[in-house]
Amino acid sequence: MPQPLSLDNGHLTDAQKNQYWNEGFLFPLQIMPPEEAANLRTQLERIERDWLAADLPKPLMTYKRNHAHIVMPLAAKLATDPRILDTVEGILGPDLMIWSAEFFIKEPQTKHVVGMHQDLTYWGLGETSDQVTAWVALSPATIDSGCMDFVKGSHKNPIMPHNDTFAETNLLSRGQEIAVAVNDEEKTHIELQPGQISLHHGLTFHGSGPNVSNDRRIGFAIRYINPNARQKVADRDYAMIARGTDTADAFVHVPTPDSLFATEALARHHEIQSEQTKALAQGLSKDVSLYQAYADANDYEGPTVDKVSFTQMKDGTKEEYEFLTAHEIDHTKHTADRLLQALVDLDEGLSGYQITRLGHSVQSATRAYRDGADLDWIVSALLHDIGDIYAPYNHDEYAATILKPFVREQCSWVVHTHGDFQMLYYGHHLDGFDQNKRERHRGHAYFEDNEVFCERWDQASFDPEYKDLPLEFFAPMVREVFDRTPYDPDVIRPGAREPLQNTDIAADRSE
Ligand SMILES: [Fe+2]
Ligand SMILES: [Fe+2]
Ligand SMILES: [Fe+2]
Repeated sequence: MPQPLSLDNGHLTDAQKNQYWNEGFLFPLQIMPPEEAANLRTQLERIERDWLAADLPKPLMTYKRNHAHIVMPLAAKLATDPRILDTVEGILGPDLMIWSAEFFIKEPQTKHVVGMHQDLTYWGLGETSDQVTAWVALSPATIDSGCMDFVKGSHKNPIMPHNDTFAETNLLSRGQEIAVAVNDEEKTHIELQPGQISLHHGLTFHGSGPNVSNDRRIGFAIRYINPNARQKVADRDYAMIARGTDTADAFVHVPTPDSLFATEALARHHEIQSEQTKALAQGLSKDVSLYQAYADANDYEGPTVDKVSFTQMKDGTKEEYEFLTAHEIDHTKHTADRLLQALVDLDEGLSGYQITRLGHSVQSATRAYRDGADLDWIVSALLHDIGDIYAPYNHDEYAATILKPFVREQCSWVVHTHGDFQMLYYGHHLDGFDQNKRERHRGHAYFEDNEVFCERWDQASFDPEYKDLPLEFFAPMVREVFDRTPYDPDVIRPGAREPLQNTDIAADRSE
């Protein structure tokens, strides 16, 4: 790991400035202590947790990855941090604006690689030196975690043609890669510790490898410009003043956000995004789709996910199936978040009760929690009716199928059969229903557990006056359960019975 450069009272020395102009990048600069970066990471991850299932106009991912500083105070604060501005001033002068800022996160053990490219290719700003990117590491950026690789001196090139390539070593990217061969020996690995930054010129050739580490690679890229920069393709462009004044007024000034995802800021974000998409589409060759253009302009990672070319499974190649497998693994990582979203969607289903299906689910989980039940029980209680949307005639089996690889057998069995046990409470009121349907399970090892489950948590949870814990409270528990190794024998533990009630734990958790 390279030693941080020593700054001159927080500013770049003349030698460091020369190095930047000669090589097209500079690193590592220690901007803040690692503990402070760790704290920022915690704040970001709290937002990721709390807002994932929130009803935002666009997916949370979009706001993290495009113009985060417009809607997230955390991002705006970091982008205007005086310690970063002190170094950037050495490159761009005293008047600084933020053109865009975004979090780039590579999840652990993922295969996304990014081909070599130049940032300025699709920004509409031309081949200007009146911009610089500061990339802040909030977790270790190492060769293993997929740090950026820069090519020394490559910023002296004009904007190079970028091609659709399909490198054999790069299964995921057929997207924009610079049409110039770059050897591995030409690359400098930009390894950064949390709290360190690198600076790079928008013409510098760069890419990055996969994250094969066990930690997330979290970076925050801030694109600074000075008042000499001009948008050459779009009719208008936007910037946030970070320091000094905008002496040219060529950009629409945007304010820093006061609160997270405020309505006004979300509208502003939408406006910026649509203006840029429109403009960028004009300036591009016809074979580049709008989506592609937007992705390239706003996402230094470039397009990483592509499509296979076969239309029948039997025609697929090894590379294509390897690509699909990697894509699938990536997809499974987000199961918990999709389930949380499905719970929110339950809110609209099945009216007529005093509380919604989501309310019933959260209330069941709250009662399980307050009974002192363990994680498997709480998550099973929360999801026991998730099948209501798509499988009204066997919703219990549907929910149990989702849970089965990730919770104790005892819990998935109870969820699987809870429909039969619930009949006790209403079967006698309806024709064709068997109130004693549970009797067919009599003698089963978990029979009594299901009796308790239904009596205490399920049939009791239709009370609008009961004080439910919010869904957000349970979200980390859902993530923990669905992050487990599927079918782990240490989790499934066939035959093992954990109590639904534990009075000591319940006392600790009481309201
Ligand atoms: Fe980039
Ligand atoms: Fe149910
Ligand atoms: Fe239920």
